[in-house]
This record gives sequence, structure tokens and C-alpha cells, in this order.
Amino acid sequence: MDIIILGIESSCDDTSAAIIKNGYVLSNKIANQDIHKEYGGVVPELASRAHQQNIVPVVDSAIKQAGIDKSKISAVAFTRGPGLMGALLVGTSFAKGFALAKKIPIIDVNHLHAHILSLFLCEENNSGKIPPFPFLCLLVSGGHTQIMIITGYLDSKTIGKTIDDAAGEAFDKCAKVMGFPYPGGPLIDKYADRGNKNKFIFSKPQIRDLDYSFSGLKTSFLYFLRDRIKEDKDFIENNRSDLCASIQHTINSILLDKLIRASEQTGIVNIAIAGGVSSNSGLRNLLMKEGKKRKWNVFVPDLKYSTDNAAMIALAGYYKFLNKEYAKQSDAPFARIKTK
Ligand code: KG4
Ligand code: ZN
Repeated sequence: MDIIILGIESSCDDTSAAIIKNGYVLSNKIANQDIHKEYGGVVPELASRAHQQNIVPVVDSAIKQAGIDKSKISAVAFTRGPGLMGALLVGTSFAKGFALAKKIPIIDVNHLHAHILSLFLCEENNSGKIPPFPFLCLLVSGGHTQIMIITGYLDSKTIGKTIDDAAGEAFDKCAKVMGFPYPGGPLIDKYADRGNKNKFIFSKPQIRDLDYSFSGLKTSFLYFLRDRIKEDKDFIENNRSDLCASIQHTINSILLDKLIRASEQTGIVNIAIAGGVSSNSGLRNLLMKEGKKRKWNVFVPDLKYSTDNAAMIALAGYYKFLNKEYAKQSDAPFARIKTK
């Protein structure tokens, strides 16, 4: 019998629904929330309201595009956390209601874990290059930055992580001080394309082991701009591309330095990146370059699955469904991951 999973993602500012059939993507619909642009960051209350408005039409459209009958859905997978509590509640409540009505199981999915599974997402007639286990994954998103050893579809171990800001936050905060709207990461990527990455040098943090830190870089970028603007009030405008290329290169080399160290320490040469920042073209290029030099096997998610989407939630749900790992109606979302 076919296994058809409806995936629901609502952890931050994207409302997404997807259908996966026997492990292949049939549809993946995403409603972005432009409302946060003018505020320079995601406003949690506005995100929850927008999810509430978007969830039914987005699910409807994912089911229609997949061309399946609702009654054939085997289970509903939803993001249980981490994320914004109000936003998670919308997706969680929808999933519970849908599953109750259809008398099918619900499956809770960890958003970070789902980002890793984005590396395995593909349509039936379009299978990409997927990583073999074990592999190292640098998970870089707006809320998290960590290096993990992935030993199975549902098994991983974190061996390094940020002690303050995430890499995506560093991109977004540096973009904000240059006056870009939220989220600024993709805009830095765009302008960096035409810039000189060696024009401005920013110091890298000295952090122990495989951990990261990005809060100092953001502050030094802010002070650097403040001093330069005193001499030239149009400094940002006059140097936009070089600024973007330089800060992007600094963030990406900080990320790569620890990934190299992780590979040396573990002896693992299957190396992947995932999460929103993995769509950064500079990071992809740097990874390819280092990978070639070090004889790594490099894996990146399809660009359309790098940022938040429900297909990755549905795929995580698919593997949990195979193990009969269901959630309970009484399970509540969680905003943060408990650290042991
Ligand atoms: O994984 P994601 O969609 O959401 C979270 O789980 O956080 O990641 C969003 C983050 C944002 O910080 C955004 O600026 C960043 O990913 N991002 C990028 C690019 N595309 C998205 N950062 C740099 N370059 C990009 N091309
Ligand atoms: Zn994410």
C-alpha cells in the first residue's frame, strides 16, 4: 500500500504544506510572510496570525497539486519545535484536527532534524545525489548553527554549535545595519556576487573546539561602519557589493574552518550542509573548493528545499511512520530544544 504523508511546517515565518508519497515529493507549497520586512525581523504575533490565515489554503493547494484524494493520506507530520510558540501552535493544532477528523496518526518532527532530511528530498523522476551514512552535516539556519554526525535517517549527534548567534542571524543583523529589509541574508548573497571579498578584513572569533560564535562579528561590523560613515556618509552605498562580499566571506570561512576541523577529528569525508544559509552561493562555492582540495564527497540540498519547507517535515514523518513512531494528541509544541 502507498504511504502518503501530509507535512505541515509553521515554526517561523513560512506556512508550508507538502505531500510525500513513498518517500518522493508530490507537492511542496509555501506561503511567505512579507509583513515582517518592514520590522527588520520576524514579529511573533504577526507570524501566528498570518499562519492562521494561510494554513487552510496552503494545505488545500498542496493536496490539489499532488493530485491525491484526502482519504488516502496515511498520517500528518508537523513541526513540533524548535520555533516560535504561537507559530508552532497553529501548525500543531491544524495537524491534530486534521488527523482526528480522518482517524489517522500524527507524527511530531524536530525542525532541525527535518533540515538534515532535506538532503534526501527529491521527486520520483528526479533523484539527486544523496549522502551515505555516516556523514557530517553543518546545519546553518536563522536560529541554529551546529555540526552534526548523521548516522541514520533518524539518528544524529551534535559535536559543535554556536554559543550565541546563529550564522543566519549574523547575515540578517549585518544586513540590517546596512539598511536592508528582513531577511537580509539572500540580499547579501546577491550583492556579494559583484563584490571583492578581500576588500575589508574582519577578525574571526577564537572559540574552543567545534563551537562557533557570531555576536562579536556583528558588533565589530557595526562599529566599523559607524567609523567609516563619519568620514563618508554614503560609505555603505558606495561600497555595498564589497561590504557584502567581505562580510559574507568572513562568515563562510568561520563556518568552513570548524567543518574542516570536524572532518579531521572524525575522519569523516562525506560532508553536507543544510538549513537556510546553505543556499548561500558563497558558502556553496567555498565548500566545493575545500571539498575538492580535501577529497571530500560534498552534498547540498536542492535550493528549493534549503530554506523552511514542509517537504522535509513530511519526509522525516515518512521515516518515523515506517517505525510507527507516532505522537499523541496531548503532545505540546516546544520552542527550544532541551540541552542535556
Ligand atoms: O532554515 P531557514 O529557512 O529558517 C530557520 O529555520 O531559521 O533559514 C533562514 C535563514 C535566514 O537567516 C536567512 O537570512 C538565511 O537563512 N538565508 C540566507 C540565504 N538564504 C536564506 N543567508 C545567506 N545567503 C542566502 N542565500
Ligand atoms: Zn529552518
